[in-house]
Amino acid sequence: MSFTSSPLTGSKPERYAQLAQQARALLHGERDRIANAANLSALVYHALPDLNWVGFYFFDGTELVVGPFQGLPACVRIPLDKGVCGAAARTRQTQRVEDVNAFPGHVACDSASRSELVVPLYAGETLIGVFDLDSPQLARFDADDQRGLEAIAAAWLEALQ
Ligand code: SME
Repeated sequence: MSFTSSPLTGSKPERYAQLAQQARALLHGERDRIANAANLSALVYHALPDLNWVGFYFFDGTELVVGPFQGLPACVRIPLDKGVCGAAARTRQTQRVEDVNAFPGHVACDSASRSELVVPLYAGETLIGVFDLDSPQLARFDADDQRGLEAIAAAWLEALQ
């Protein structure tokens, strides 16, 4: 099987709709969470500009443990009471942080990161992990990015079923 992703075109919501379509095609017929997280990280990292890290952390019952990603090597374990990732997991709310240096308890894995978006991954009441994106640009993520990346995270969760 080979996968070719076409360049995204149009308005930001249109580009995210195309990316979500590519994500669903990529995950189609596969339930393995590691395989799907790896391919989704690669798809998103290469499709969107100005990112230095895209990947998954999985909840092991105690803390978040790094999973498949694109970018520099990352912190392996993040307690739920630490960082932007911990906040997303704990609050069940997407964390969109314009300036990570202003976020109390931010875990700096790559000092180039300036802004961050973390989507919590829940299957019903069960915490599975988080989908984390970092950018070297301040305020890289807006509400369109949040909606678009939440839809991509939802596609990953749906593929588990
Ligand atoms: N900055 C994150 C840690 C994960 S890395 O950026 C990949 C945080 O504060 O949770």
